Amino acid sequence: MISHPNLIVGIERSEDAGVYKLTEKLAIIQTLDFFTPIVDDPYEFGQIAATNSLSDVYAKGGTPITAMNIVCFPIKTMDVMILREILRGGLDKMREAGVVLVGGHSVDDNELKYGLSVTGIIHPKKVVMNNGAKPGDKLIFTKKLGTGIISTGIKKGAVKKSTIKKATRSMTTLNKTASEVMMAVGVHACTDVTGFGFLGHAAEMLTDTDNGMVIESAKVPFFPEVRTLAESGFLPGGLYRNRDFRKKMVKFSPDVPEYLTNLLFDPQTSGGLLIAVAKNKASRLIDAMHNAGVSDAAIVGEVVNKPKGKILVR
Ligand code: CO
Ligand code: CO
Repeated sequence: MISHPNLIVGIERSEDAGVYKLTEKLAIIQTLDFFTPIVDDPYEFGQIAATNSLSDVYAKGGTPITAMNIVCFPIKTMDVMILREILRGGLDKMREAGVVLVGGHSVDDNELKYGLSVTGIIHPKKVVMNNGAKPGDKLIFTKKLGTGIISTGIKKGAVKKSTIKKATRSMTTLNKTASEVMMAVGVHACTDVTGFGFLGHAAEMLTDTDNGMVIESAKVPFFPEVRTLAESGFLPGGLYRNRDFRKKMVKFSPDVPEYLTNLLFDPQTSGGLLIAVAKNKASRLIDAMHNAGVSDAAIVGEVVNKPKGKILVR
């Protein structure tokens, strides 16, 4: 166990980022993410990777301020122009976020990977934990699900250009606005939905709490094209791992269609924020999200006191 009087969030629990108090009014948020390409266009991949890396700071309610590039690149076999485009995509997203690139590191590697190490700031008392939800809270989710299934379909050439475009637009949308609206309204808990899928990250929100959850599967936003892709078997390996890992915690009503049971475990890249907010603030938060342009934001379920530690999907 690692503890320190100034440590607000450390590595003990599965939180989105580390948080360390510098003064009574200032804490730093630190996070690191990088991965292999999930779209063909290098500029778009750079944008997606940067947007994804910045997301963990937004999930804590913080403001990202600086970032560093992490690059693995097969310099002997790949055109260096590809790397330039990736870095340009990343830099454009950092600019949009108001983040300053301060350095980075690259290594020669057979498999291309890119991401950022990000530092953000926040008032130490305003940090939004992923497990702060209270029974009765409404659960709000801010982006469409299905990017893992779509990326799997892309690799097999089974996805239409228009669908790729929609998914890319979602993955390159910063969670900045959603986070700012969330902080203005005030919420109990937040995480961003990424590799463990919607239900995997929902399950993390129950860690060290006495809470359970009810998810209304019909209300969870997703890309409509995903249904056919899922039913045609374009399911990423991570989806099965996510389901195996959490299946004991999750109970599906028999009337939930199979493609939705898969979709809810689909690993997301640069997914939306999953937020727990007091019931009496939920519609205000949704309205504020929609007014600010976070148009997919929807109430998708609620936090309950029993059954404890379980997620019921109906
Ligand atoms: Co996260
Ligand atoms: Co992360």
